[in-house]
Amino acid sequence: MLNRPDIIRTVTELRAMVSTWRRDGQSIALVPTMGALHDGHLSLMRLAATQADRVVASIFVNPAQFGPGEDFERYPRTEAEDVAKLATVGVDAAFVPHVREMYPEGFATRVHIERLGDVLCGAHRPGHFDGMALIVVKLLTSALPDVAIFGEKDYQQLQIIRRFTADLNIPVRIMGAPIEREADGLALSSRNRYLSPEQRQTAVALSVALRMVRDAVRSGDDPAAASAKAREDILQAGFDAVDYVEVRDPWSLELVTEPGRPARVFGAARLGSTRLIDNWAIE
Ligand code: PAF
Repeated sequence: MLNRPDIIRTVTELRAMVSTWRRDGQSIALVPTMGALHDGHLSLMRLAATQADRVVASIFVNPAQFGPGEDFERYPRTEAEDVAKLATVGVDAAFVPHVREMYPEGFATRVHIERLGDVLCGAHRPGHFDGMALIVVKLLTSALPDVAIFGEKDYQQLQIIRRFTADLNIPVRIMGAPIEREADGLALSSRNRYLSPEQRQTAVALSVALRMVRDAVRSGDDPAAASAKAREDILQAGFDAVDYVEVRDPWSLELVTEPGRPARVFGAARLGSTRLIDNWAIE
C-alpha cells in the first residue's frame, strides 16, 4: 500500500515531528537530496528504511552549492513526481523547505572544509563543498537523525560529510550507499536528464574509461599513466572536456602514485553544458 509522506516546509514542524517519534522510542534516518529523484535516490530511501524506524527525505535545491554559471536555475524541480516516488519506498516525511526557510534574511554563516575540499571537484567548482557542507550541517542539526545516508557517486562529498560531522561533533552515523548504474554502466544522476539521446550514448564512456583505470591499476599499472590514457579515451569518445581523472586514497583523498594498495579512481568530464562525475573502488 502506498503511504504518501507528510510534506514539511519548516524546521519547526520538522523538529516537532521528530520529537514525537523520539518520544515513542523510534529511530530516524535522513536522506538529503536535491530532488529530481531517480532509482539511485530510491535505493538510498530503501536502505534508510532498513536502518531506522522512520525515514525523512529532504528535497532542497541548495543555491549555496552552485557557482556562477552553473545549473542552479535549470536544475530540475519536480516536487510532485518526487513525492509520489517517495510514497513507493516507505518514506514517512518529505522536508521540502523554501530557500528563505534555510537562508533567512541576515544569514551570514559559512562552513569551510580544508584539504578534502580542495581537490577533485573542489578544485573545479570553487565554493561548492562549502555550500554543500553548510546545508548538510543545517539539515542534520534540524532533523537530528540517528543515521544519514549519501550515495557513493558523490564519494568526495561523502568523505567531506564524514569529516565535518566528526569535527563538529554532530551525533549522527553517516552511511554511504553503492552507486546505482544503468545497464550499460552509466552512473545514475539527476543531471543525466540534460543529455540528448546522442550525448547519452557518449556519456557511458566516462564509466568505461574509469573502469579500465581500475582494472589496469589492479593488475599493477602506474595510476598516473592509466589516468592519462583514460583522459584521452574520454575525449576520443566525444566528451568536450575532462576536468580530471585521478586515482586517490579512499579516505584522505591524497593522490595514489603506486599500484597495490586500496584506492579509488575518480573522474569528471563535460558533455556540452552537462558535467558528469563517476568513480570506482580499486580494492
Ligand atoms: O548530493 C546532493 O544531492 C546534495 O549535494 C546534498 C547532499 C543533498 C546537499 O544539497
